[in-house]
Amino acid sequence: MSREKKVWALAAILVVAVCLAILPASLAAQEEKKGGEKLAPFVPSPEEVVERMLKLAEVKAGDTVYDLGCGDGRIIIMAAQKFAAHSVGVELDDELYKQTSERIKELKLQDKVKVIHGDLLQVDLKPATVVTLYLLTSANEKLKPRLEKMLRKGARVVSHDFEVPGWKAEKTESVGDDQGDFRQHTLYLYRR
Ligand SMILES: C[S@@+](CC[C@H](N)C(=O)[O-])C[C@H]1O[C@@H](n2cnc3c(N)ncnc32)[C@H](O)[C@@H]1O
Repeated sequence: MSREKKVWALAAILVVAVCLAILPASLAAQEEKKGGEKLAPFVPSPEEVVERMLKLAEVKAGDTVYDLGCGDGRIIIMAAQKFAAHSVGVELDDELYKQTSERIKELKLQDKVKVIHGDLLQVDLKPATVVTLYLLTSANEKLKPRLEKMLRKGARVVSHDFEVPGWKAEKTESVGDDQGDFRQHTLYLYRR
């Protein structure tokens, strides 16, 4: 092999080696950006259940409602439109986050409703006066220390169908839905 070819071959090996060194780090960075573990699948709360959750928490103007795992944004949107509250949703899924952001813009609710693209186990919960949950019991268990540490005294937590293990509900309600597969939903109200 000529000297020139050897130089080119060495350069090519160097480029490949650098790429291989950088690739894992850049993949990890992408993973970190998306962040978080999927703690529950997307199953929306029926509209009538959403309304009962917000009524059970006695949401009113002046409240800041956090929906952790906000899906298509139905809870945060209703909290603003029907209950005059400010609201914040947190959603990990790219498509649902996009859908919710677009809906907020379409409805011109940007001053009252925000959605965070990220992990519900990473957000600051101190501004919340009300937290709504439709996750799994295992997810509520993971979230519990953060709720206990960050929520202000008197904050209300309403959980759809899944209890927060170890907490005593102040009230429990059963709600039927109008969907084809009529079923009862259980709502748990907790107060910090
Ligand atoms: C059962 S759905 C509830 C949707 C909405 N809160 C409602 O009641 O209609 C749960 C949602 O949590 C989201 N989710 C799961 N793990 C999450 C995480 N670690 N951070 C943020 N969102 C998450 C899912 O993508 C899904 O949209």
